[in-house]
Amino acid sequence: MERKLVILGAQWGDEGKGKIVDLLSENYDVVVRYQGGSNAGHTVIANGEKVILHLLPTGILHPHVTGVIAQGMVVDLEVLEKELEDLRKRGIACENRLHISDRAHLVMPYHRLLDRLFEKKRGIGTTLRGIGPAYMFKFGRKGIRLADLEDERRLQSLIEENVAFVRDICEKVFQDKHDLNTDAIFESTLERYHRIRDLIGDVSSFLLKTERSLLFEGAQGTMLDVDAGTYPYVTSSNSSALGLSNGTGLPPKFFTDAYLVGVAKAYTTRVGEGPFPTELKGEEGRKLRTLGGEFGATTGRPRRCGWLDLIALRYAVEVNRFDGIILTKLDVLDSFEEIKVCVGYEYRGERLEHFPASLKVLEGIRPIYRTLKGWLASTKGARDVRDLPPRAKDYISFIEEFTGVPVLMLSTGPKREEFVWLRELPGIRVSCS
Ligand code: IMP
Repeated sequence: MERKLVILGAQWGDEGKGKIVDLLSENYDVVVRYQGGSNAGHTVIANGEKVILHLLPTGILHPHVTGVIAQGMVVDLEVLEKELEDLRKRGIACENRLHISDRAHLVMPYHRLLDRLFEKKRGIGTTLRGIGPAYMFKFGRKGIRLADLEDERRLQSLIEENVAFVRDICEKVFQDKHDLNTDAIFESTLERYHRIRDLIGDVSSFLLKTERSLLFEGAQGTMLDVDAGTYPYVTSSNSSALGLSNGTGLPPKFFTDAYLVGVAKAYTTRVGEGPFPTELKGEEGRKLRTLGGEFGATTGRPRRCGWLDLIALRYAVEVNRFDGIILTKLDVLDSFEEIKVCVGYEYRGERLEHFPASLKVLEGIRPIYRTLKGWLASTKGARDVRDLPPRAKDYISFIEEFTGVPVLMLSTGPKREEFVWLRELPGIRVSCS
C-alpha cells in the first residue's frame, strides 16, 4: 500500500474530494489537512446521512483515524467548535484523536469583517470566511497563532493592535460600520482555546516520526492555488501539491515517495469570479448545473458549469506531478448526445497548448473543442467496469491519452458504494458500509 497518499483537487475545487477521502481513509491511520480553512466544504454521505466538513479532515469520520490540522491551515475556533459539537451529536467523538498544530494561524472575527469589506470593493466572490485576510495577517506578520494563546497578555495586546488597525481600515477606508469589541473577542477566543487546548501541539514532529500510514487531504483545487492558479481569482493558500511542504511543516524530501492523485469532475465547474475558458452560459450550462446539483457546499451559490477543459487538467497534472486521476460525476453526462472537451485554446489566431498565466490572455482565449459522441446510457451507481458503455470508456481513454496519466477510479454517485476501480491501487481495500 502507498504509505503516503495525497488527494488533491485538479480543477477549481468542488471536484468531490470529500467522498474520495472518506472512501480511502479506511486504509489510512492519519488524515491530514494542511491548507485553507473553513472555506472548504467536503461533503460525505455516511450511513445515509449527509455530512459537510469545513475544517476537520474528512477522514475523521472513521473512528480509527487520527485527524491532523497542520500548520498551513487557518483555523476559525468558532467553526471548529461547532463542527466538533455537530459530530458529537452524531455519535462521532474525535477530541481524543485530533491534533492541531500550534503554528496554525487563527481566523478572527475581524478577518471575516475585512473579507466582507474587500468583497464589496472589488469582489472576487470569496466564501466570506475570512480566509484571505487571515493569510494577509499571517504573511504581514500580524497574525495570531494557536501557540500565542497561552500567553494571555501577549494575546490581548495582539488583539488590541489588530482591532485598532481593522477599525481604521473599516472607518477611514470603507466608511463602514462595525461592532468590533476587543474585550469580547479576547474573552471568546480564550474560552474557546481552553476547551481545545489539549489537542494543540507540534504536529510536524508527530508526522515526521510516525510510522503510521498518512493521507493528505487537499482543499479547494489546483486552479485556485495562489501561485499556480488563475491569480487573483484564487484562494490565499497553495492548494496544489506546492503547499504540501510548508503546509505540513515537513521537508520536501518527505514527499518523494508519496503517491499523488488528482480528483477531477468529468466536466468543469467554478464558484466565484475569474477566468473559466470552457464556461457554458446557456442551456447546456444550466443542464449540467441541474443534473450535477452544482450549488456550493459552503455558500450555497450556484456554480458556473462548462465542458471538461483538458488543457487546464493537463496543466494540473504537470504542476502536481499526479500519478493518476480519480474522475467524478461521469453520470452527469449520461444524457448528452454530444460531449465536448477542450483540447486547445485559440488566442489572436494562434493555438495555445498550455494554460497561460496572463489574465489578459485568459480573457481573450477561445476554447478549441473536440466533440465526442455521448453514450446515452446510465452510468449512475455503476460498480463494475463491465457496466460502463463503450463510449463512456472512450471518453475516459481520451482523458488518459491527453493528460498522460491513468484514470484510477470513477465515482458514480454520492454514496460511498458508488464507485468503480479502473486500476486498483496496490493494497487499497474499500468496503462499502
Ligand atoms: P476564499 O478562499 O474564500 O478567499 O475564496 C477565494 C476563491 O476561492 C473564490 O472564488 C471561492 O469561491 C473559491 N473557493 C474557496 N474555497 C472553495 C472550495 O472549497 N471550493 C470551491 N471554490 C472555493
